[in-house]
Amino acid sequence: MRAEATHNWIERGQAKVRGLSDTQPYEMRFLEESELDEAYELHQFVVSGMKHPHMFRADSKTFMAQHIECRGRTVGTFCDGRLAGYAAISFPDGDPDNLGRDLPLPEAEIAHVADYDGSAVHPDFRGNRLQLKMTDMRHRYALAHDRYHILGTVSPLNPVSLSNFLGFGCRVKNFMIKYDDMQRFIIHRDLRDEVSTEFDPTSLVDVPLSDRQRHKFLLRQGLHGYRVVPGVDEAHLRYGRPTVSRALSAFG
Ligand SMILES: CC(C)(COP(=O)(O)OP(=O)(O)OC[C@H]1O[C@@H](n2cnc3c(N)ncnc32)[C@H](O)[C@@H]1OP(=O)(O)O)[C@@H](O)C(=O)NCCC(=O)NCCS
Repeated sequence: MRAEATHNWIERGQAKVRGLSDTQPYEMRFLEESELDEAYELHQFVVSGMKHPHMFRADSKTFMAQHIECRGRTVGTFCDGRLAGYAAISFPDGDPDNLGRDLPLPEAEIAHVADYDGSAVHPDFRGNRLQLKMTDMRHRYALAHDRYHILGTVSPLNPVSLSNFLGFGCRVKNFMIKYDDMQRFIIHRDLRDEVSTEFDPTSLVDVPLSDRQRHKFLLRQGLHGYRVVPGVDEAHLRYGRPTVSRALSAFG
């Protein structure tokens, strides 16, 4: 991936910070190589706080370095003098981890894929919609490079992140074992399309996040997961059959 100027991609705002009564200014921009250590430290801290090791993939420092200035870029949010959150986007092209192959997309579309390759917000800064805001910057960066298929993986143990991604317009389109032994929803959005909210009302069905067989069955029937809804014991994923869209008509 060629080097390029990204210093003009800056957004500013105000965020609430746990333990402080006043909101604090934040700056959102692409991380530089010199900030890798801070990003990796935040990553490790968030990993160490997860209730289950499969909820959030632990990445190596080398992997994170690749997404700062090599195979991708990483948006970082700085607030209250520290890194509050990060969100990586990669352009995997012919690499084996190109998630386009997990739908699968036609081979001609693989060059237009960008993968979400990790995001986290420090607990002190959660609730400011930073994942959404950093993802918006990831989308704009991807589109600026003709990458309109955005894909990611989310654990069924992680309803907060799944709900966020579905809120960004992604849809669950597959369910697989990834990263050796972790269950993952494969989420996809085609950024050329308006976010589709059109589902056949007679097709709607809610499935507990832990019901792996039912997810697989409904996805094989061509339904898409589009919303996390509360359930009695655990959150559910709502599925529906999309009315005609580019995803169905072109990639059936
Ligand atoms: C997923 C994550 C990045 C979202 O952080 P965020 O952008 O600050 O979240 P939001 O601002 O969208 O939060 C929306 C609501 O969920 C709450 N929330 C956020 N993260 C939460 C968590 N991990 N557990 C419980 N509630 C959480 C927020 O407080 C907020 O509640 P409110 O509406 O009552 O204020 C963050 O939870 C995180 O770092 N999780 C661990 C790593 C991870 O799962 N990464 C994504 C892997 S796919």
